[in-house]
Amino acid sequence: MKHFLNTQDWSRAELDAVLDEAAAFKASRFGQQMTGRSIALVFFNPSLRTRTSFEIGAWQMGGHAVVLAPGKDAWPIEFEVGTVMDGDTEEHIAEVARVLSRYVDLIGVRAFPKFVDWTLDREDTVLRGFARHATVPVINLETITHPCQELAHALTLRERFGADLRGRKYVLTWTYHPKALNTAVANSALTIATRLGMDVTLLCPNPQYLLDERYMGWAQQNIAESGGSLTVSHDIEAAYRDADVVYAKSWGALPFFGNWTAEQPVRERYRHFIVDEAKMALTRDGGQGLFSHCLPLRRNVKATDGVMDSPNCIAIDEAENRLHVQKAVMARLLRG
Ligand code: CP
Repeated sequence: MKHFLNTQDWSRAELDAVLDEAAAFKASRFGQQMTGRSIALVFFNPSLRTRTSFEIGAWQMGGHAVVLAPGKDAWPIEFEVGTVMDGDTEEHIAEVARVLSRYVDLIGVRAFPKFVDWTLDREDTVLRGFARHATVPVINLETITHPCQELAHALTLRERFGADLRGRKYVLTWTYHPKALNTAVANSALTIATRLGMDVTLLCPNPQYLLDERYMGWAQQNIAESGGSLTVSHDIEAAYRDADVVYAKSWGALPFFGNWTAEQPVRERYRHFIVDEAKMALTRDGGQGLFSHCLPLRRNVKATDGVMDSPNCIAIDEAENRLHVQKAVMARLLRG
């Protein structure tokens, strides 16, 4: 069974084919690739872009999407194996995934970490549970990675720079946020940027904000194959200088996972990691570097109004491209 759980599971040729098909969907929105087919979108967390773009994308291809929120409008689900279900959960993933597979042709799952114990969250138990028990393809709608966002980001960069992104200076910068956030988009940005052969700088306040070794390892593996590079930096000016792309994201420091009151004073010291006009002025050609973010974004906390409203901000294009790349992923999975 072919799922879309991580881009790292798909070959470069498959990813390029998805991006090509996404560009075709962007040029011609309506089709029959999902006529008579359907997708269940299972959301354990809120969404604006993912939910809307998947629902509309399925409809534009002649298909149907049903949205479920376990614990709210669907029964709470148990994921532990062999557990005595005498708590709050009403049915097991072994039944949920197989029942949904009898109704729909695809299942999408959004399940953020619980933010208590990273050794548990990094197992991606909810997504893996669906993938293990479903008899139809499963799509990751953001768990501890966000592969659909990766594809939208890649398509947006291709539109600006062409398909060959090798040699571009790509800065993935941590930004301040009042809460400790998921590392998923950062893991994903690191993964796809190195996969595409860019010269990646991971800019973060200190070594405590480095990403999980799994994703740092994927980056090294990708560099070996794509010829790009990875530099870890805590020097804002050096990182931004001559960058082609600045991609911003906030995330919680893994050594403090589940102990966020201890992380808070550390994080507070780094409010100046905000993406502002002065930093963007250091980017290539006297400040012509592109800026993006997966959204949602807190203005004047993560990036200033000036950066968000600049013609070099491509975040809205990236959000639109979620629609096109996800249609390409759904169409490809449905073709088997
Ligand atoms: N970027 C993204 O996944 O947006 P939502 O959380 O609104 O779906």
